[in-house]
Amino acid sequence: MTRENAPLVLGIETSCDDTAGALVDGAGRVLASVVSSQVAHQRYGGVVPEIASREHLRNWPAVSAALWRRSGASPREVDIVAATAGPGLVGALLVGLQLGKGLAYALGRPFFAVNHLEGHLYSPFLHAGAGSAALAVPGRFVGLVVSGGHTSLFDVDREAPRLLAQTRDDALGECFDKIGKRLGLPFPGGPWLDLLAERGAAGAALAIARCGDDSLDFSFSGLKTQALLEIARLGASGVSVEAAATRDGYDAAPPVLDLLAAVRAAAVGQIVERLARHHTREPFARLAVSGGVAANRLLRQELGRLAAERGFALDLVALEYAGDNAAMIAHAALLRWRRGIAADPFSVSAASRAAALRP
Ligand code: KG4
Ligand code: ZN
Repeated sequence: MTRENAPLVLGIETSCDDTAGALVDGAGRVLASVVSSQVAHQRYGGVVPEIASREHLRNWPAVSAALWRRSGASPREVDIVAATAGPGLVGALLVGLQLGKGLAYALGRPFFAVNHLEGHLYSPFLHAGAGSAALAVPGRFVGLVVSGGHTSLFDVDREAPRLLAQTRDDALGECFDKIGKRLGLPFPGGPWLDLLAERGAAGAALAIARCGDDSLDFSFSGLKTQALLEIARLGASGVSVEAAATRDGYDAAPPVLDLLAAVRAAAVGQIVERLARHHTREPFARLAVSGGVAANRLLRQELGRLAAERGFALDLVALEYAGDNAAMIAHAALLRWRRGIAADPFSVSAASRAAALRP
């Protein structure tokens, strides 16, 4: 690593069921990003915390070997170590956090404990593919994080995020995953549901939930319940509601495809409605969208349409950095370091519900 590319940041992410490591240089270039997704949870249809922690321990040696091999760097060249401290599953977080602290201690380098949401929030500014520097983080933007654990909207001013709204019940990804589970789709069901919805016709639209006249908060549990009841009704009327495995994915009966299209349209419609309302009240110039659900085809399309209509700039996270990854954790630490924020003490611990994002 030449010194002009310093500091070299090693990121570690183990907040849920993905074991991830990444190396990001001082310009925000992703030198390598490795994500190992745990398949051990498949048979349970959801993440089992105890299994996740053990799998992280098992997976890390292969993840780190791939990291050094792909980047051509060596541990001694690392200038900063960063790991996710929360929010997430505590046992899972502790694996990556202790690993990061141990490495930083052994190498004599500063350690940054990163908030998982902070990682997602700035991930739209990472460049897709290796070799390109990250975009400068704009002075002000609205940040939407949509994932399996979060649906949150932030006003980010000079890199100090202020929460504007969040889900009052299920996260958007969680809603998709629970419907997917009912249809027998592999976990997480979100990506499959997105593909199946492409083949259906939204037909009769499902209502878009509101959370009071003024609130920008989100709510997806009503939509989930409505979908599960409709699946039960279809099943009772003789429709086969289990998704069928095909050579290259899954298929479902036409009424199920139509229902999924309607669910996806209502879910995306809710996000678009909140953003449009916020823009009417407080016009913003830039929207950055991140998190696993930011990979959703309809969401990307509809946000593009809204951005063109309202005239704001749109930064959609690159697909490779939408789901949980460690490049976003290294990048968030790099941003902290650039702002002169002090590294964290080795006494820092993991928290399932992280406090409000620090400025
Ligand atoms: O960011 P992420 O990897 O983990 C959390 O922090 O939660 O997000 C995972 C979530 C899962 O709920 C998954 O079903 C969802 O993102 N997801 C999608 C799509 N791809 C991933 N949901 C809808 N459409 C997709 N294309
Ligand atoms: Zn996440």
